[in-house]
Amino acid sequence: MSALDPALDGTPAPELPYVHATAYLTPLREGGSLPGLVEADDLGTYVVKFTAAGQGPKALVAEIVVGELGRTLGIDIPDLALIDVDAELGRREPDEEVQELVTASAGLNLAVDFLPGAVGYDAGFDVDPRQAARIVWLDAFVANVDRSARNTNLLVWHKTLWAIDHGACLRFHHAWGRPEAFATSAYRYDDHVLAGVGDPRSVHEELAAQVSRGLLDDVLGLVPEAWLLPDPRRPDPQAPPDAASARAAYVDYLLARLAQAERWLP
Ligand SMILES: Nc1ncnc2c1ncn2[C@@H]1O[C@H](COP(=O)(O)OP(=O)(O)O)[C@@H](O)[C@H]1O
Ligand SMILES: [Mg+2]
Repeated sequence: MSALDPALDGTPAPELPYVHATAYLTPLREGGSLPGLVEADDLGTYVVKFTAAGQGPKALVAEIVVGELGRTLGIDIPDLALIDVDAELGRREPDEEVQELVTASAGLNLAVDFLPGAVGYDAGFDVDPRQAARIVWLDAFVANVDRSARNTNLLVWHKTLWAIDHGACLRFHHAWGRPEAFATSAYRYDDHVLAGVGDPRSVHEELAAQVSRGLLDDVLGLVPEAWLLPDPRRPDPQAPPDAASARAAYVDYLLARLAQAERWLP
């Protein structure tokens, strides 16, 4: 069950499920952040995105915010959970890069439900234009640059299209202080693999109506406090100083962009 299951009336559970990692199986090398396939104590298998990878904890904030938002908007996104990782988990992994990443990420990380046998999307797969439109709309809204033809971050599983990898969205949190710039920036539709399949204008009214302050507050409530604090390894003088002000700032930035939809719709 997802934290924001539409079956539960759109009302999010107050927190993401919490599991403990029990075994590191193998690294996944398609993308750049070196996620790991991991078993957990609920007998689940997860793709774990580590706090010490590439863009740090902010990428995991984006995964939760965009993932849970997208799920509420009717997009299929694998369930998310928080996963506790022991520094020892990677000790049997021969690759030093993996060992270092796991050790540096000891503690809380993000787990994405593994879709076994899923294959990468290609244009041969028939996508419902409305479903494509929802994905394109979400990506334009959160400024996702990671859905290109070369790197689709879309999987086909059980004849359904699943959206993954939202870590590069919400770029404003890497340099706070210019909400107008984020709110009004145009979106590069020519880079989006589904831009020719679904028209975001066809779903704009329906989706925009669902993105309320209340929904965004609930989604931000799912993000662990530690990931919302200023990152000492990446100093940003304008970063919100504590988790509460960070949550409020994410909501304000997103509502400001929603209000400027004419600037980023095609
Ligand atoms: N939930 C999942 N189920 C199955 N495979 C996945 C899942 N999440 C990621 N993968 C696979 O792992 C690769 C890397 O994951 P991704 O989230 O895109 O991380 P990166 O930031 O490294 O691009 C994906 O391209 C896909 O092949
Ligand atoms: Mg990826």
